[in-house]
Amino acid sequence: MTSGTSGKSRVFSGIQPSGEFHIGNYLGAVRTWAQQVADAHEDLFFCVVDAHAITVDYDPADLRQRILALSTDLIACGVDPERCTLFVQADVREHMELAWYLANVTPMGDLSRMTQFKEKSEGRDFIASGLFQYPVLMAADILLYKATIVPVGEDQVQHLELARDTARRFNHRFGPVFLEPQPRLSKATRIMGLDGQSKMSKSKGNTLPLFDPPDAFWSKLRSAFTDPKRLRKSDPGNPDICNIYAMHQVLSPADEITRTFSECTSAQRGCVDCKKVLFEHFDRELIPLRQKREALAANPQRVRELLGDGASKARRIAQKTIQEVRDAMGLGSGG
Ligand code: AMP
Ligand code: TRP
Repeated sequence: MTSGTSGKSRVFSGIQPSGEFHIGNYLGAVRTWAQQVADAHEDLFFCVVDAHAITVDYDPADLRQRILALSTDLIACGVDPERCTLFVQADVREHMELAWYLANVTPMGDLSRMTQFKEKSEGRDFIASGLFQYPVLMAADILLYKATIVPVGEDQVQHLELARDTARRFNHRFGPVFLEPQPRLSKATRIMGLDGQSKMSKSKGNTLPLFDPPDAFWSKLRSAFTDPKRLRKSDPGNPDICNIYAMHQVLSPADEITRTFSECTSAQRGCVDCKKVLFEHFDRELIPLRQKREALAANPQRVRELLGDGASKARRIAQKTIQEVRDAMGLGSGG
């Protein structure tokens, strides 16, 4: 199914500017975004979702700084604004408008079943209703552009099902305006945190920041949890439960992956050596990315301009969809 005028499939994805950009974000999402940008087969929209980041406590000055830092990181990773539409969510106000309209075809029951809401609201004194509405805003992000493909990690699949239901409910009630989006999962759907206890996540403090200096990167990677039953090098490991092997599978060449599997299961290679090999592959991939990031960081005004251009491109499409929605829903004076 195509949604743009170019006849290409339209792809939309988003990332929150909260916390440092980590290897889970990179391997689970952004690396595949960059590959899609390089392939140039699709009409691509990538969004820094700042309005999602205000659903939990935050510092405004810090948020501004993180928006620019994350955008810089994304461009450095190959999300080239000349070849895709890269923009900041709150620069296109139609996202917020559509979220309100869609909130009225979204049942409370569906929202209360969302795992991420349960996790993020647990143990808090203050739970913003925005946190409850979070998936409605995410549905608005996607449906506004009539995107049919949404590259995400496994944790977002439930939100995407809700976006699909929302499109269906809206179309059923008001006529065919929206297309139903599908998730596109990367190979690394769930990178575990360095503690091995749960998913690597900005909110859990178990991350390995992608752009840590090489020394810090190595010392964190070196301490990462592996197969807990493997206490000595002479114990055979189980790569299927090892986070380091999961990363080898996305980052290392095919022959290296095979060698890693056999040397781990036959206890020929210890965990630290295995991490060293992984680090070398990471480092090789990161050298040009670090250079690009440094050059961009020296010129923040240029990054802001690129984001402004992205927002203008996005706004043109967003405004068209909003007009269709308002007409279908009978909103406004019609003038
Ligand atoms: P977030 O940082 O929650 O905005 O996530 C941005 C993107 O990275 C989403 O597509 C997530 O599914 C993906 N992501 C976040 N953490 C991980 C992880 N530990 N493993 C794989 N993908 C992840
Ligand atoms: N909720 C997503 C996350 O936490 C981020 C996001 C917001 C998103 N809007 C989106 C992802 C639209 C894909 C499409 O990772």
